[in-house]
Amino acid sequence: MNYRHAFHAGNFADVFKHSILVRVVKTLAVKDKPFCYLDTHAGSGRYDLAGDAARKTGEYRAGVGRLFDLTDCPAEFSDYLACVRAFNPHGTLRYYPGSPHFAKHFARAQDRLVLCELHPEAYALLKQEFARDARVAVHLQDGYRALKAFLPPTERRGLVLIDPPYEAADEFERVAQALASAHVRWPSGIYAVWYPIKDAGAVARFHRVIRESGIREVLLAELRLYPDDSAIRMNGCGMLLVNPPWKTLESLRCLLPVLARLLRQDSDASFRAEWLVPE
Ligand SMILES: C[S@@+](CC[C@H](N)C(=O)[O-])C[C@H]1O[C@@H](n2cnc3c(N)ncnc32)[C@H](O)[C@@H]1O
Repeated sequence: MNYRHAFHAGNFADVFKHSILVRVVKTLAVKDKPFCYLDTHAGSGRYDLAGDAARKTGEYRAGVGRLFDLTDCPAEFSDYLACVRAFNPHGTLRYYPGSPHFAKHFARAQDRLVLCELHPEAYALLKQEFARDARVAVHLQDGYRALKAFLPPTERRGLVLIDPPYEAADEFERVAQALASAHVRWPSGIYAVWYPIKDAGAVARFHRVIRESGIREVLLAELRLYPDDSAIRMNGCGMLLVNPPWKTLESLRCLLPVLARLLRQDSDASFRAEWLVPE
């Protein structure tokens, strides 16, 4: 386990992932009934953009760094930016919230967050970050095992974020298997699966496995900032949403063009928002 999210926090992939996450969690908080949020690969929860890791790569500058000071903030982004700004109350971008904080921003007294992280240092930071919030349980645990241990949740409604580092050559296969068995345990849960676009063939195989898995209602969102054959390691990224809330496709079709415009690099960015598997 070499991956450290601190090097990448707030980059274009985080903006993409977290702006979709915020949209789903906010929708869950519309009904009074409690929800459960399970984050299988939660990271350390808070990232210091002035720290050595973030400064070394500078990735956040082409991500959240482009958005933080926007004055005419597009409506599609307002909830995402409100979370990041609430995290930096002095008005200067210094800290970037990890996925657990974006979820917590919308959690009410009746909701519950279950966070799993396997790296001991990231786990210790995560534990400390949420130590004073009784709604949040933090586990030093393999995220794939967590799907077996914690699903279905007692609340019977909620969201699972699966956001592994894709360091291992077989991570796409592991994700697809884990998603299929989690879906058997809890067919009505919402699942959000993030993935990098580095090798278009690997992504196409992943989509095929999901299409053949028998899971229905799978939305696909993708953002590509570089051509598929560019030498950049990550040309884009995507998210699969199983059982997405009502009107998610429409809202992705508003969000993604704005993201593509604001986060574009030298060439034009492109996006997709469509059903991978319809109802
Ligand atoms: C992409 S980062 C997560 C970022 C976080 N979800 C966010 O959006 O802020 C992936 C995390 O998974 C952790 N990790 C790696 N293998 C894991 C495993 N098998 N189970 C749980 N966590 C794991 C890494 O230490 C890393 O912190």
